[in-house]
Amino acid sequence: MKFTERFIADKELVEKSLHAIFRGRTPHADLYDAMNYSLLAGGKRIRPILTLECCRLCGGTDVAALSLACAVEMIHTYSLIHDDLPCMDNDELRRGKPTNHMVYGEATAVLAGDGLLTAAFETALGAGAYLPAERVLLALERLAEAAGPAGMVGGQALDMAGEGHALTLPDVEELQKLKTGALITVAAELGVIAAGGGEEERSAVRAYAQKLGLAFQIRDDILDVTGDENSLGKPIGSDVGSEKTTFVTLKGIEECGRLVERLTDEATEALSVFKDPWFLRELAQVLVGRTN
Ligand code: IPE
Ligand code: IPE
Ligand code: MG
Ligand code: MG
Ligand code: MG
Repeated sequence: MKFTERFIADKELVEKSLHAIFRGRTPHADLYDAMNYSLLAGGKRIRPILTLECCRLCGGTDVAALSLACAVEMIHTYSLIHDDLPCMDNDELRRGKPTNHMVYGEATAVLAGDGLLTAAFETALGAGAYLPAERVLLALERLAEAAGPAGMVGGQALDMAGEGHALTLPDVEELQKLKTGALITVAAELGVIAAGGGEEERSAVRAYAQKLGLAFQIRDDILDVTGDENSLGKPIGSDVGSEKTTFVTLKGIEECGRLVERLTDEATEALSVFKDPWFLRELAQVLVGRTN
């Protein structure tokens, strides 16, 4: 199977599961509408696809990984809803649609994010139907750590505190490692945990995802300057508008491009312990030139 076909099939599998999560929930209809509005708005689904593919790579089944994959995407979606709020990046377009707070108002957008975050852990617990309790416990521990103050939320706090200040390269690296790297890394690691993979597989996949996550955020920073709003589905110039120090402000577009390529090579090298990690290798290469 070629990369594109496999990517599309993975994405469909994830979309189907995400659609089922809040189906038929009627109380507080506005809240569920707001949650589904962003969750089903059609992101790239890179993180849940990483979970699925890392699980397969380690010999696990899709059912073992799917609940965890959806949980990661729910947490990612909540982080985007909150990231777009006027008190944070103040953006009006996301995934090609008006941002959550533009449609539902700020209070409901905050609650939709809260709802997605909390429901993500309920969804992740669904993995217990297919996996031994120790694996679910480990997966939830890793997920909570990556999403919380020692991970993504901590990175967002550094990002906000950095607005209007000149940050150094180590500052921006630390910030990205937390705000973007932590969730991408745990997405991959949860796949290995679901499959019952060992320490060697976990650390190889973590190394791959850390490099991939860094390349992904540098590409995001490049696209904020050179991208096209229509294909990106979110505004360009948001970082400059908020006076953020990014990889691009520190290194310039061309050097950032070279850095993305180097990190991608390093990411694929980290997979050498696996026999045929073709999908993860191609995924990393495809993301180098992404336009959305
Ligand atoms: C956007 O993530 C936020 C970053 C961490 C750079 P994605 O580029 O994965 O956004 P979606 O999920 O495809 O919308
Ligand atoms: C946000 O980074 C990462 C999150 C944890 C949501 P950005 O603020 O750069 O993401 P975009 O560019 O708005 O998608
Ligand atoms: Mg932001
Ligand atoms: Mg933003
Ligand atoms: Mg950005």
